[in-house]
Amino acid sequence: MKQKEILIGPFKQLLTMRNLPDKGALLDSQLEIVEHAGIWIRGNKIKEIAKFDDLTLVIPKNIQVHKLKKDCLALPSYIDCHTHIAFGGDRANDFAMRNGGSSYLEIAESGGGIWNTVMHTRNCHLQHLVDATMARSSELIKQGVTTVEVKSGYGLSVEEELKTLRAIALANKQSKADLIATCLAAHMLPKDYIGKAEDYLVDIVERLFPLLIAEGLTNRIDAFVERSAFTAQQIRPYFTEAQNMGFDITVHADQFSPSGSQIAVDFNAVSADHLEASTDREIALLAKSNVVAVALPAASLGLGCAFAPARKLLDAGASLAIATDWNPGSAPMGQLIASASFLATMQKLTNAEVLAAVTFRAAKALNLSDRGRLVPGLLADFVIYEADNYQHITYRQGALQPTAVWKNGEEVFN
Ligand code: NIG
Ligand code: FE
Repeated sequence: MKQKEILIGPFKQLLTMRNLPDKGALLDSQLEIVEHAGIWIRGNKIKEIAKFDDLTLVIPKNIQVHKLKKDCLALPSYIDCHTHIAFGGDRANDFAMRNGGSSYLEIAESGGGIWNTVMHTRNCHLQHLVDATMARSSELIKQGVTTVEVKSGYGLSVEEELKTLRAIALANKQSKADLIATCLAAHMLPKDYIGKAEDYLVDIVERLFPLLIAEGLTNRIDAFVERSAFTAQQIRPYFTEAQNMGFDITVHADQFSPSGSQIAVDFNAVSADHLEASTDREIALLAKSNVVAVALPAASLGLGCAFAPARKLLDAGASLAIATDWNPGSAPMGQLIASASFLATMQKLTNAEVLAAVTFRAAKALNLSDRGRLVPGLLADFVIYEADNYQHITYRQGALQPTAVWKNGEEVFN
């Protein structure tokens, strides 16, 4: 069947993100900006990016031309490479208690914390979880996000984790964004396994992992490595089994103490996420490795904690991605560009570093090589703003909203 072809433009500025390295600091002068640009789409991919007027001379006759009347910008649509949007309930009371001065323990004792979300999520019918995940993915699409990683981790049993991952798979079928599922069964030790962490992890490996493979639910395994969750010693055999079964590894690392970067590097994980407590040692380890360092500024804002040392990571040579960590506890805001812009002001990040962190470097954190830059052959996933200068994206700190969002060569929001 003949593939649909569209020419869209002219864009006042188009950021390709072409030829930028996967790792290290970036200057805005390194950004390739095509002025008066056009995007020629064939099927779900980019056929060509060039000056709009030049493209009009070479495109086949009768192709659909989508002519823009106002000054617009285009850049690759965003990739939110770390979320927990498949959950039931909310934790507004935790937030209020925390801001009222209550401790983590007091909040947990009053029925809050991750376990509260586990109870609510377990009580959700599968379809309710699908709907909740869909609703949150739609919120992200409006922000220009067209690829969303979604973790399980509020089920914490073979059956309930399976339910969550099936819900994510069903939501992915309906969502206009690509939802990339991750199994975070090792999020915290379920209450019925207190003192028996090894037994819980063995149960997950032996009973859940084969089902994930059989049903094609995910190829990614995550673990929260922290005193309050699982130790590196407990997680090593778990990751070894996961890796032997062919899963990619990702880690909730160094959130409250320098606890997880080492294991992320040892297992050649695709990413190490959080890093608020990383010291120079972890920064050097990550910089030398192929592991993408993922900063989650919305979790710092949600908890009132330090930001990840993004500047130091980039200067040491690491690859930096930025994600929302959208979850009901630590990161309820779910705003990618707003939170990334706040990280930029607090950590002194260039526009090129921020935009790389939410496009091709985030794609790398998900092991996806077909998106994140606007170049021929990659997916036609892009975001359009009514503005005449890309600097306004971070300058407006999330207040500048996309006027249109395209995914796989189709307009999915306007
Ligand atoms: O990434 N750090 C662990 N997990 C989540 C928080 C989950 C929750 O509080 O519900 C995070 O911040
Ligand atoms: Fe998280």
